[in-house]
Amino acid sequence: MDMGCRTLQMLNMLQNKRFLITGISDAGSLALHTAKAIIEQGGEVVCAGLGVTPHHEGLSEKALAYLSANEQAFRETVKAELGENTPTFILDATQEESMADLAAALKAANTPLDGFLHSIAMDRTIRNKQVKPLLEVTREEFCDTLGISAFSLVRLTHHLLKQDALLDGASICSLSYIAAEKVTFHPYRNMSVAKAALERITIELADELGRSRGIRVNALRFSPYLGSKAGSATLNTEDVAKAASMSPLGNALPRDLALEIVHLFQPGLRITGEVRHVDGGYHVTG
Ligand SMILES: NC(=O)c1ccc[n+]([C@@H]2O[C@H](COP(=O)([O-])OP(=O)(O)OC[C@H]3O[C@@H](n4cnc5c(N)ncnc54)[C@H](O)[C@@H]3O)[C@@H](O)[C@H]2O)c1
Repeated sequence: MDMGCRTLQMLNMLQNKRFLITGISDAGSLALHTAKAIIEQGGEVVCAGLGVTPHHEGLSEKALAYLSANEQAFRETVKAELGENTPTFILDATQEESMADLAAALKAANTPLDGFLHSIAMDRTIRNKQVKPLLEVTREEFCDTLGISAFSLVRLTHHLLKQDALLDGASICSLSYIAAEKVTFHPYRNMSVAKAALERITIELADELGRSRGIRVNALRFSPYLGSKAGSATLNTEDVAKAASMSPLGNALPRDLALEIVHLFQPGLRITGEVRHVDGGYHVTG
C-alpha cells in the first residue's frame, strides 16, 4: 500500500475531535508534526507551550530570557504552521498551578479534550551534547528531570480530569525513546531513567484510567531525530547515522510518528498500555 492510499483511507478520522498538544517549541518539534496530522484528519488542536506564567517569581535574567524566547517561538510557530485561530496556552510542567490553570482555562472555554499528546522533556545534566555520568547527578537534577519529563504526565492528567476537561474514552500518548530499556550507543543516563518512569507511568495509568473511564494511554519510542531542540541538544550527526544503519528501514520520520499517534487517537480503539516502536525497526537489532 502506498502512502497516498493510506492518507486517503485515513481522511477525517478525527472529525469533531479535539486534542491538546504540548511540547511545540519551533517548526522542528515532533509535536508540531503530530498537530498537523490531526488537523489533516479533520481534528482540532489546542496547544500549550513553555513560557512565562503568573507563578514564576524571582526568575533570573537568564531564565526569563529563555522562557520568553521559547514562548515567542511557540506562539509564532503555532500561528504560522497551524493557523491564526489555533488556541494557545502557556504551560510550565514544573508548576502545579500552571497545570491547574491550563485545565481550568479549557474548562472555562467549554472545550473538553478527546485526548492529549505529552511531548515534554528536559534534562539539565545534558550540556553541549555532553551527558553527565549518573554518579555525578545530584538529587535535585534527578528529581527535576523526572518531574518534568515523566511525573508531569500524571499531574497534567490529574488536573484535566479534575476540571472535567478530558472526556471519558479519551486517548493519551507520550513520547519515549529506546534508552528507557537499553543502554544505547549514545547513553543519556539521567534522561533514560526518566523515560523508563514515563513508560511505567503510561502502563499504570492505562490500567487505572481504562477501568475507571475508558481512557487509553500509550507511549511511542521514536528514532533519534536531530531536527528539534531536544534532539540537537543531545545527538550529533554520527549518532543519527549509526541508528539509521542499524535500523532495517532506516530511521523513522516525524511523519511516521504523527500517523501512528493519529491512529492511537482514533475514537473507540481498544489499544492501551502499549509502548510502541516507531523507529524503523531499530529495536530488533539495536
Ligand atoms: N528528538 C529525538 O531524538 C527524540 C527521540 C525520541 C523521543 N523524543 C521525545 O519527544 C518529545 C519531544 O521532543 P522533540 O524532539 O520534539 O524536542 P522539542 O525540544 O521540540 O520538544 C521538547 C519540548 O519540551 C518542552 N518543555 C521542556 N520543559 C518544559 C516544561 N517545564 N513545561 C512545559 N514544557 C516543557 C519544551 O519547551 C519543548 O517544546 C520529548 O519527550 C523527547 O524526549 C525525542
